[in-house]
Amino acid sequence: MSRTKSVEKLSRAEAAKDLERLASEIAAHDRQYYLEDAPSVSDAEYDALRKRNAAIETRFPDLVRPDSPSHRVGATPSEKFAKVVHSVPMLSLDNAFSDEDVIEFVARVRRFLGMKPDAELVFTAEPKIDGLSATLRYEKGVFVLGATRGDGNEGEDITANLRTINDVPLRLQGRAPDVMEVRGEVYMTHANFAALNARQEEEGKPLYANPRNSAAGSVRQLDPAITAVRSLKFFAYSWGEASKLPADSQSGMLQAFKDWGFKVNPLTKLCRTIEEMTAFYRDIASRRANLGYDIDGVVYKVDDLRLQERLGFVSRSPRWAIAHKFAAEQAETILEAIDIQIGRIGTLTPVAKLKPVTVGGVVVQNATLHNEDEIARKDVRIGDTVVVQRAGDVIPQIVRVVVEKRPKGAKPYNFPERCPACGSHAVREQDVKTGETEVARRCTGGLICPAQAIERLKHFVSRNAFDIEGMGEKHIRAFYEDGLIREPADIFHLEGRYGAGEKAIMAREGWGEQSARKLFDAIDRRRKISMDRFIYALGIRHVGETTAKLLARAYRTINALANSMKGDEALPELQAIEGVGAVVAEAIKDFFDEPHNTKAIAHLLEQVKVVPAAAPRTDNSPVAGKTVVFTGSLEKMTRQEAKARAESLGARVSGSVSAKTDLVVAGPGAGSKLAEAEKHGVKVIDEDAWLILIEKA
Ligand code: IVH
Repeated sequence: MSRTKSVEKLSRAEAAKDLERLASEIAAHDRQYYLEDAPSVSDAEYDALRKRNAAIETRFPDLVRPDSPSHRVGATPSEKFAKVVHSVPMLSLDNAFSDEDVIEFVARVRRFLGMKPDAELVFTAEPKIDGLSATLRYEKGVFVLGATRGDGNEGEDITANLRTINDVPLRLQGRAPDVMEVRGEVYMTHANFAALNARQEEEGKPLYANPRNSAAGSVRQLDPAITAVRSLKFFAYSWGEASKLPADSQSGMLQAFKDWGFKVNPLTKLCRTIEEMTAFYRDIASRRANLGYDIDGVVYKVDDLRLQERLGFVSRSPRWAIAHKFAAEQAETILEAIDIQIGRIGTLTPVAKLKPVTVGGVVVQNATLHNEDEIARKDVRIGDTVVVQRAGDVIPQIVRVVVEKRPKGAKPYNFPERCPACGSHAVREQDVKTGETEVARRCTGGLICPAQAIERLKHFVSRNAFDIEGMGEKHIRAFYEDGLIREPADIFHLEGRYGAGEKAIMAREGWGEQSARKLFDAIDRRRKISMDRFIYALGIRHVGETTAKLLARAYRTINALANSMKGDEALPELQAIEGVGAVVAEAIKDFFDEPHNTKAIAHLLEQVKVVPAAAPRTDNSPVAGKTVVFTGSLEKMTRQEAKARAESLGARVSGSVSAKTDLVVAGPGAGSKLAEAEKHGVKVIDEDAWLILIEKA
């Protein structure tokens, strides 16, 4: 924007030209936002375009175009809604794609609970509504706050918009707990979707791709009146914080929701066997097209809430539920080119560039080809007609080539053996242990490869890492190429070294004073960051958000983590964390063994404060921070359940007894560990004493 002339200085002809450009640019962004759910500019950049359009129109009112963006309600930038921190996180579900996956899920539940194969285990089976989830908070029966799921921990306050939905009771009927958060899905029926798009078309506004996008777009309207005319609907299926629960089963909860005035899905059923579950799935699948709203599978949940509580959660999803998804939708199109992208650690990833095609309501033009072997295995060639598949939100895949339609002379694809970004050799390494060749071809350029450096920086500022607003790929690339930013810490020097003074480099870089100020402010806001985000931002191989959280919980501070990586016990310590396996542990250790990385961390720590992770629920927990060993056979719960429960109370569960052990829980048949405990003077209790100990926690 800074390169464009200021509005006051525009001539009439220039203004007309600029309005024409803005109309088409904004329309293109709207299309990306609504149709592809994939905006290519930040909300701030989008806002700036709209603001400029409005300013020019104010100066030259007679130049307002019939297709001016000011006539339409565009995408609503998310910053306009207040943030809401969920008191109980909004989780997601694990997926099952086949009957076998469902069988395995039920077996897993039984194993965890230590149930006999013939003991009764009841599930509710519900359609999985394809909309967007929302949480509705009622205090003394009155609707006081409604929010989107957001990232699961923090969503957006959309109370005003939810109030306009008929299915959302403003006051609960009958007796309700003092605090009750009801959760469920906001969705749009096929009929309302068709009517909305017809209206959009008539008014020359962009069309929505599918009911889910339009429901999402509608609840994010700044003007609740617009949400109101879009006639959204709501099914209740779950809950968050509650001062008291009205029932002790999922089905009982659904009945309570109904009694309070909610809609619950009428197709919901109780299933007592796996056969009943999969029959439900098939029945719903066959009725899918006639339901009048989109569903993308069914959800099975353990009905008994006491069992749900025992089962608990693994990372972001409950152990007691699973989504059985419908098969993906497919379409044929032409593969126009294969692009090679270079990742953070140098992996060359082939991406199929497709002739745009609609798959299940969404326009697809890129699909992953995974790696070299995959291309060879499917014999994918440029010019081929291919079958593309999309399942839920996952990246579209190429299923197969339609060989009959192959153009004459199409040649097998030659995977590059040099990195397209830096020209270094790209090699497939051998795994030291197995001797097998890795599937990934990696650029050996390491620190000299600009593509890798840029990817690392992109990851560092990304939403779930440092979340630096306004620092998009374009800017990172420019800063990198001009030598302003080479490692993450440089980001925090941007203002001091390059932004200040009259001849500031930022001005030369094409940043206006205001936009630079905005960026510096966004950077400053991140000088304090949580431990898990910090770890995730480092971009350690195999360390995603979940592992970053595990590490943060286990080590609390970055110094503790870095220090223990220097010791001999680094690997076993890492592997003692549930959820961290050998490969991941190795990658973490390797990362900290590299002096360049520890230096980059040291530089960063001069600039940012890392807030130590909170210890897990220690308030009531008698075992927080203690090391516990279970041995012998347990009778009231499985070893897995005992371990999960102890860990959720802040204990570390270890497999062997040492001087560092605080407590041994021994069942019948405990052997050598008991002797070890005696040797080290460690306290030993039996299972009943353990249950009494943790009962009130
Ligand atoms: S239960 C703790 N039940 O699916 C479990 N979710 O993939 C909470 N969804 O985020 C979810 N229909 O938006 C549940 N009958 C149903 C559902 C359902 C749709 C959505 C929900 C959730 C997503 C998980």
